[in-house]
Amino acid sequence: MKRIGVLTGGGDAPGLNAVLRAVVRTAERAYGAEVIGVLDGFKGLLDGRFRHVGGPDVRELIRTGGTVLGTTNRDNPFSCPGEDGPVDRSAEVLENARKAGLDALIIIGGDGTLRIAADLGRRGLNVIGVPKTIDNDLASTDYTFGFWTAIDTATQALDRLRDTAESHHRVMILEVMGRHAGWIALHAGIAGAADVILLPEIPYDSQSVAKTVVRCQERGRSSSVLVAAEGVMPRGGEMAVVAVDPTTGVKRLGGAGERLARELEALIHCDVRVTVLGHLQRGGSPVAFDRILATRFGEAAVHVAMEGRFNRMIRLADGRIEDVDLDEAVRETKLVDPKGPLLKTARALGIAFGDE
Ligand code: F6P
Repeated sequence: MKRIGVLTGGGDAPGLNAVLRAVVRTAERAYGAEVIGVLDGFKGLLDGRFRHVGGPDVRELIRTGGTVLGTTNRDNPFSCPGEDGPVDRSAEVLENARKAGLDALIIIGGDGTLRIAADLGRRGLNVIGVPKTIDNDLASTDYTFGFWTAIDTATQALDRLRDTAESHHRVMILEVMGRHAGWIALHAGIAGAADVILLPEIPYDSQSVAKTVVRCQERGRSSSVLVAAEGVMPRGGEMAVVAVDPTTGVKRLGGAGERLARELEALIHCDVRVTVLGHLQRGGSPVAFDRILATRFGEAAVHVAMEGRFNRMIRLADGRIEDVDLDEAVRETKLVDPKGPLLKTARALGIAFGDE
């Protein structure tokens, strides 16, 4: 009997469990294969912690957030904390996968996790990548699962903020996730009828944002609602960073919304409040689109594994599920094109981007 391992890495995204469910059901029903869950991401692979996952374990999982495979985390077997600095423990990962009898390992992750997967593939592990991130910033797939759930959460937040903004004649800023790519801000901003959308891809001019707020007031609007990605930068400025991880050097972002609020209050007379949506965007039951995408990804990953084609990543391209070379798939980050069609639509509707 073939054994397929499943590992989740990086930040979580609604739909992780739906992928696992699809993997288990496809593996068992179509191939009579066994699925082994790796507990706690790469950490579990390093410690050799595995658990058989069968049909009864995945019942109801299509609608649950988080991951039932313990935790998902940003551990990297090529760079583990050691007494004298980072240590490469990838050989242990390969050995543990061999001992567990895994014929293939499906690794579900965003760009960081999938780059590790590609490196492990080069070292001889039979990997298949499944793209996941609420940020939707992987260039080789139309969408990653989790993204549309995050947009829904952010859109609902904008709707609610509009209500209270109107009641108090306030300027409301919603800070959403997106460190380099502003896809969530852009989509939620359009769906939630924001007055201003600020993206990491378009450095903003606070005078320009202030002008839009004043224009709203002059047109008789009693409120303004702004949505800003966490990675936005004022022109000539930097991202707002709260901390830097000493091991990985990864920056924890935060404060972009507050910074903008202070800039606006210094420029014009307005009462500004900031809401940081944060990890609310990563939890919750996946929306139908994400459930279906996650399911299609999981099913396809099993077929590719059973065909013995490795170092591949599953993707959505023009409505079709395909697999592509994993190395190539993780090479590029998908950024918002400031001249792209969605920007044009938003501008046509009168939404400002702080660069006018
Ligand atoms: O999953 C990607 C992401 O959502 C980024 O947009 C955000 O900066 C980051 O995760 C925060 O993740 P954590 O707080 O889990 O490190």
